[in-house]
Amino acid sequence: MCGIFAYKGPQKNAAHIVINGLKKLEYRGYDSWGIAFKNRNNEIEIHKEIGKISEIDLDSLKDTENHLAIGHTRWATHGGVTRANAHPHSSEDKSIAVIHNGIIENYLEIKKDLQKKGHKFASETDTEIIVHLIEENMSLGFEKAFHKTLEKINGRFAIIAIYDKEDKIIAARKGSPLIVGLNDEKKEYFIASDIPAFLKYTNKVMYLDDNQMVIVNDELKFYDIQNFKSIEKRVIEIDWHEEMAEKGDHPHFMIKEIFEQKDTLSRAINQDEEKIKEVAQAIKSAYGTFLVGCGTAGKVCHAASYIFSQVAKKHVNFTFGSEFPSYHHFLTDRTLMIAVSQSGETADTLEAMEIAKEKGVKLVSIVNVETSTMARMSDIVLPVKAGPEKAVASTKATTSQLAILTLLAYACADKLQEGKQLLINTAAQINDMINPRYEEHIETLANKIKDVESMYVIGKSLNYPMALEAAIKLQEVSYIHAEGFAGGELKHGPIALISEGTPCIAIIANDETKNEILSNAMEIKARGGYIIGVSPDNNEIFDYWLKTPDAGDASPIVNIIPIQILAYKLAVLRKNNPDMPRNLAKSVTVK
Ligand code: AGP
Repeated sequence: MCGIFAYKGPQKNAAHIVINGLKKLEYRGYDSWGIAFKNRNNEIEIHKEIGKISEIDLDSLKDTENHLAIGHTRWATHGGVTRANAHPHSSEDKSIAVIHNGIIENYLEIKKDLQKKGHKFASETDTEIIVHLIEENMSLGFEKAFHKTLEKINGRFAIIAIYDKEDKIIAARKGSPLIVGLNDEKKEYFIASDIPAFLKYTNKVMYLDDNQMVIVNDELKFYDIQNFKSIEKRVIEIDWHEEMAEKGDHPHFMIKEIFEQKDTLSRAINQDEEKIKEVAQAIKSAYGTFLVGCGTAGKVCHAASYIFSQVAKKHVNFTFGSEFPSYHHFLTDRTLMIAVSQSGETADTLEAMEIAKEKGVKLVSIVNVETSTMARMSDIVLPVKAGPEKAVASTKATTSQLAILTLLAYACADKLQEGKQLLINTAAQINDMINPRYEEHIETLANKIKDVESMYVIGKSLNYPMALEAAIKLQEVSYIHAEGFAGGELKHGPIALISEGTPCIAIIANDETKNEILSNAMEIKARGGYIIGVSPDNNEIFDYWLKTPDAGDASPIVNIIPIQILAYKLAVLRKNNPDMPRNLAKSVTVK
């Protein structure tokens, strides 16, 4: 949530580099943006606006001769979407500028205290107290004043500050991601909340861990925030390339990423078998396994709980990251947690992991960003390998996570090779399924239903969580009111919502649940509902049929794909931006 980016180096257009980097981070927040740079007179200049950074005209920045700049693209937490609340925030004398991602929990008491001391605030944000606190302590010097500020604030944050009298950037992290990119030969340094922002310049990175800060001058110096002692960090070369984070010929990242599922599944299945067996053994011997994730990753966990039951006859719990704290009573050092996440930075899941870690729980993570905080916190990491996912709506990471959990379930049943073969076949079936004709067929459906107010999705067993996930996809990009239900639950209340023409997607796998869920669809049809069947076989009750391959226990993977495409098509037809839906952000780093 919120994208932050900073540049210091030999190039003379730091402000432009920062703006271009921020454009690549826009998926993290896009209600307003701002940059601060040191101009040729060594003054700090700030430009900030409401709206999307992608819409800025670079020529509007007149003084482009600058070697040091910082920038921010915002997802509002404290204070509405106004120019005043956009970052950077500056000290009253404009000598210090700060950007921040996260939440300062004790900002109100600090603000009151600072106001008593005469500080005047220009915004409603929690962030602004940081710059005033630094200003308050400047008699100690910039570095110490910054460090003293960190001692006073509580919460999760990533902060970057600059000062007009010194040619340096200082950054600190506690809870929100911050990565340093470097080209040491050129003395060129980047700091960003995510790697794609600087991938064009370097693939050499150094991760800031929690409670660490970095001072970027002509070299990098890292410190432990708790004692302000210098620490050594390792340079890691990552194997992502710039093109992987670009749209290519596709109009949006979302459709590009949906189509990438032709390859991503095969990559996901290609796991280290020894590691898969090790995790399967850990599940078998644990006194309770918790699958934990948020949003779509949470739905993946929910589906996996059915898959484990069906394939391995094994009960695994699932819970959303935000709900996990209530289960802490059950945790012991024989519990296992499997955290599922695309970004590896979701605050609620991270907090769940922290709680578990304190109780000695063994941590496994299934994450797409292999160098993320979750991956680094885990005892075992199973990489999702989907490549950068930039659209806010998760698609390719979802199906890959489902594949890895299916593989684990088969490994638990001592049938790893059988599971692998099932998934290899499923990957081939997906390759055949996703093609322009299929996309067109779904677009025709989208045109028919694009103006509806509400729609519903039903599923059963493994595909009930997919009905919930389908509803999330439809909600977040089409803004149509969509809800998912277990088919059998309809008659206990929700069926009252059905009226003439209400679209209802019925996810129907070719398994023992088929007849029951067909009956549920029939009950909807009898009340005027428009039935969209997602299923390997057509049926006379379907008003529209989206054919999916018969994938057995891997049916959740294939069944969600046509609904991802439908959500995308509806978003485009309704003139929404599917990559950056309103009110959302890709990486939810606040609780
Ligand atoms: C997915 O479409 C959503 N945007 C959202 O629910 C997401 O899955 C959730 O925030 C978890 O993110 P993570 O996978 O990065 O942890």
